[in-house]
Amino acid sequence: MTDHGFDTKAIHAGITSFQPDSMSVPIYQSVAYPYLDAQEAAAIFTGEKPGFTYGRWDNPTVQVFENRMAALENTEGAIAAASGMSAIFLLTHHLLGAGDAVVSSNRVYGGTFGLFDVGLPRMGAKVNWVTNPESIEAWAAAITPRTKFLFVETPSNPALFVADIPALAALAKSRRLPLVVDNTITTPALQQPTRLGADVVVHSTTKYICGNGSSLGGIVCGPKSIVEGIRQNGIRYLGPAMSPMNAWLSLIGLETLSLRMGKHCRNAQAVAEYLEQHPRVTKVNYPGLASNPYHKLVAAQMKGCSSLLSFELDGNYEQATRFIDALKVLTHATHLGTCRSIVTHPASTTHSAMGEAQMRKAGISPSMVRFSIGIEDERDLLADLEQAFDRIGKQPAKQPAKKPARKAVSRT
Ligand SMILES: Cc1ncc(COP(=O)(O)O)c(C=O)c1O
Repeated sequence: MTDHGFDTKAIHAGITSFQPDSMSVPIYQSVAYPYLDAQEAAAIFTGEKPGFTYGRWDNPTVQVFENRMAALENTEGAIAAASGMSAIFLLTHHLLGAGDAVVSSNRVYGGTFGLFDVGLPRMGAKVNWVTNPESIEAWAAAITPRTKFLFVETPSNPALFVADIPALAALAKSRRLPLVVDNTITTPALQQPTRLGADVVVHSTTKYICGNGSSLGGIVCGPKSIVEGIRQNGIRYLGPAMSPMNAWLSLIGLETLSLRMGKHCRNAQAVAEYLEQHPRVTKVNYPGLASNPYHKLVAAQMKGCSSLLSFELDGNYEQATRFIDALKVLTHATHLGTCRSIVTHPASTTHSAMGEAQMRKAGISPSMVRFSIGIEDERDLLADLEQAFDRIGKQPAKQPAKKPARKAVSRT
């Protein structure tokens, strides 16, 4: 399989032998695997004989998904988890002990921000945020003798910061630290971080990899030492295993990944260009635009810009929510990466628990609107935007930016 192209691997890699054989990977909807006899059980537990032990740390269907993702991300191995957050948590738990630190870009998904900012201190560890992640010097300055890894999400959700992966990898190597990349937004169809020098890749497979919003999942792809370390000393005791059904749905998603990503990119480019010329839009964050500061970087390390984009409405918090309510083809939900287009208001949902000051530091304003552009017909998406702008008025209202006092309770 190593000689085959990406699309062939996305359909065939990772399959060992199933009896009887079948066209789609069998779903082993089972928690345990009966042994022939006590001797076989003992041999499987010591690793002398290949086999499966218990659904919390291994399952044949999940194993195919892990092997296929390792093939697509060019890593020695992979370990699947119940969600993207549990994959990031398992990796963090594995790499950090009490007193240790991760150095991370502050342009990360709200859940990752919460895990690092609130969750790590509860484990006796901490994060050193890099608030200017474009600057490699800023990363270097944040490293201390207790740093155990560097973490970057690129492109980031929702501010669309794009990191220079080779430059960060060179820094990580010079300090003998692993570089971990959250590759959720681009997927390996568009960006393969290990080919750019990264050591570990994490995903929320809930997004583009599954592709239709049907199943939560996450994965850590990396060296065997890390992946098997998490299997033996992490997932086994902590428990967030991927379900066999979700592994199967994610395998189905992988088969069409690069086809879907192509259409996602084309539709997102059209939407970004439409927004850029609209009088109610002050800024569009999409690295596919020639005006975007990351445009050159993208050409060097990505095959496409995926379909997450965000923009600043010339207006305030209320007007952003009115615009969202007026959309008919785009679905208002806190999700991304599905065939259907999705609109999200980060300030009132995904990032609300951050508080306005932290949000602004991370490049998120009250009037920011986020799109995950799907694979519908381009003209229907553009027509939907046009009618929603018509509903809120072509000219901006002269009101100060305002956020309701209502306190957010969750960070989804
Ligand atoms: C970039 C990124 N990483 C990780 C996650 C967490 O994934 P999950 O929702 O599967 O836990 C998300 C969720 O939106 C995300 O956007």
